[in-house]
Amino acid sequence: QELRGHVSIILLGATGDLAKKYLWQGLFQLYLDEAGNGHHFSFHGAALTPPQQGQELMAKALETLSCPKDTMPSHCAELKEQFLQLSQYHQLRTAEDYQALSRHIEAHVQQEGLQEAGRIFYFSVPAFAYADIARHINSSCRPAPGAWLRVVLEKPFGHDYHSAQQLATELGSFFQEEEMFRVDHYLGKQAVAQILPFRDQNRQALDGLWNRHHVERVEIIMKETVDAEGRTSFYEEYGVIRDTLQNHLTELLMLIAMELPSDIGSSAAVLEHKLQAFRALRGLQKGSAVLGQYQTYSGQVRQELQKPGSFHSLTPTFAGVLVHMDNLRWEGVPFILTSGKALDERVGYVRIVFKNRAYCAQSEGHWAAEQSRCLPQQIVFYIGHGGLGHPAILVSRNLFRPSLPSQSWEEVEAQPGLRLFGRPLSDYYAFRPVREWDAYSFLLSQIFHCRKESFITTENLLASWVFWTPLLDSVAHEVPRIYPGGSENGHLLDFEFGGGQLSFTQQPLEQLVPGLAS
Ligand code: BG6
Repeated sequence: QELRGHVSIILLGATGDLAKKYLWQGLFQLYLDEAGNGHHFSFHGAALTPPQQGQELMAKALETLSCPKDTMPSHCAELKEQFLQLSQYHQLRTAEDYQALSRHIEAHVQQEGLQEAGRIFYFSVPAFAYADIARHINSSCRPAPGAWLRVVLEKPFGHDYHSAQQLATELGSFFQEEEMFRVDHYLGKQAVAQILPFRDQNRQALDGLWNRHHVERVEIIMKETVDAEGRTSFYEEYGVIRDTLQNHLTELLMLIAMELPSDIGSSAAVLEHKLQAFRALRGLQKGSAVLGQYQTYSGQVRQELQKPGSFHSLTPTFAGVLVHMDNLRWEGVPFILTSGKALDERVGYVRIVFKNRAYCAQSEGHWAAEQSRCLPQQIVFYIGHGGLGHPAILVSRNLFRPSLPSQSWEEVEAQPGLRLFGRPLSDYYAFRPVREWDAYSFLLSQIFHCRKESFITTENLLASWVFWTPLLDSVAHEVPRIYPGGSENGHLLDFEFGGGQLSFTQQPLEQLVPGLAS
C-alpha cells in the first residue's frame, strides 16, 4: 500500500463545546475513513488550560466517541483505543509552546520514517483570539517545506463589512487564501451539500425550469424553537441577521441562484460562479425586512447582562427578508429568507415553488380532468428536523422524476398521514440519505481532501457583507415587533408577502404567503 505521509491535526479549543459536540467525533470519523488509505495521522488537542487539567478535560470529551452503526462493539472499542493512542493534549499559550509543538510533530514524523504531508489547525476558539494564534502558527508552527498548511476558521467573521475586511486583512498577513477554510456548517448539511449535484444530475429536466418564467418564488427558511438564553451577550451584539441570514441563508440562496458551472467538480469554477451570483443581488432597502423579537428576550438580557429594569433591547431575534436578483434568470422572482428563535417548530428548508397558479385559478372547478395539473409543483431541499425529522429532497410527482446518486440517497417510504407543505408525502418523489452524517464530519473530510467549494473564501465573505451591511445599518435603531415566542405562539410572528412587500400578520405563514398551504 502506498504511504501518503503524515498529517497532524491540531484542534485549538479542544475542550470547548463545539469540540465536545462535533469536532472530536468528526476527527474520529476522518480517521476511520482515511487511515486505511495509507494516511498516517496524529491528533493534537490544544487549549490554554495547563497540561494535566487539559489532558483530563480532553479525555472526557473523547469518552463520547461513537462508531458507525454496524460496527461490532469489540471492534469499536479497538478503533477508539487506536484513536486515543494517536491523540495528545498540548497547552498552547506562548511562542515557545508553539515551537515545542512543532518540534514534537517533526520528531514524531521522523520516528515513523515518513514525510510530513501537512498540518491542519482548527480554530475552535473565540474570534478575538484569532490574530494571536495566527501569528504564532505562521512564525513557529508551519510544516516542513513541501508540506501543506490548512487553517480552519469558525464564524463570526466580523460584525459588518468594515470589521470583516479588517479581520480578513489581518489573517491575510499570516496565511495564503488557499490555506484558509472558513466554515459555514450549513454547507456541510446533507441536503445542502446535494443542491449543486442535484442540479447537475438533473440538468436536462431543470434546464428550462430553473428561471423566472417558471419559478414563482423561493423560500429559504430556518426556524428554531430554542431562544437565546445563556447566549445573550453574543446575541445582543449580533442578532438574527448576522447570526444566520448573512451566512447560512445567504449561502443557501447562492447555491440555488448561481449559474451551474459545466464541471461542478472544479472548486474554482463553483466558487467563481457563486461570486458572480453575489454580484447580481439587488441592494436591500429598510422595507425589504420585517424584524421581530420574542417577548422574554429583553428580560433575559437584563438578567444575564445586569441591565437596569428600564432596558429594552432592539436586537431582532426574527427576520423575514425579501431578496431579488438583478439578472436575466431571476428578474422578478422573490427569494424569501426567514430565520428566528423561539418559534413554533424547528425546521430548515429551501423550497422552490413553480408557477402554475394562474392556470389553476381559471381551471379550478371547471375541468375536473385537468385538476391534477393544478397541484403545486415544487422542489424542496429539506435540511432536517420538522415533520420529516431527517434530511430529504422532495420533488412533486407532477414535475419530473429526479435522479439522485443511488448509493447515497434512497427513496423514502410513504408514511401514512404525513403531510408536507400542505400535500401528502405520497405527492412527492422523496429521497433521504442512506447514511446520515453530521455536517462537521463532512466538512472535515472536505478540508482533508482540499475541496474548497464547501467553504467561504474572503471574496465570498466580503460580498455577503457588502449586501447585508446597508440593511443592518438602516434598521439598527428600529424597534422590532414583539412576538410571544414559544411552541404555541411562534406562528403569530409570521409575515405576509403580497404586492412585493413583506409585512407582519397575525396568522400562520402557511395561510398568508400565497399558495404556501397548497
Ligand atoms: C449557528 C447559530 O450558526 O447555527 C445558532 O449561531 C443556531 O444561533 C445554529 O442555533 C443552528 O444550527 P443547527 O445546525 O442546529 O441548525
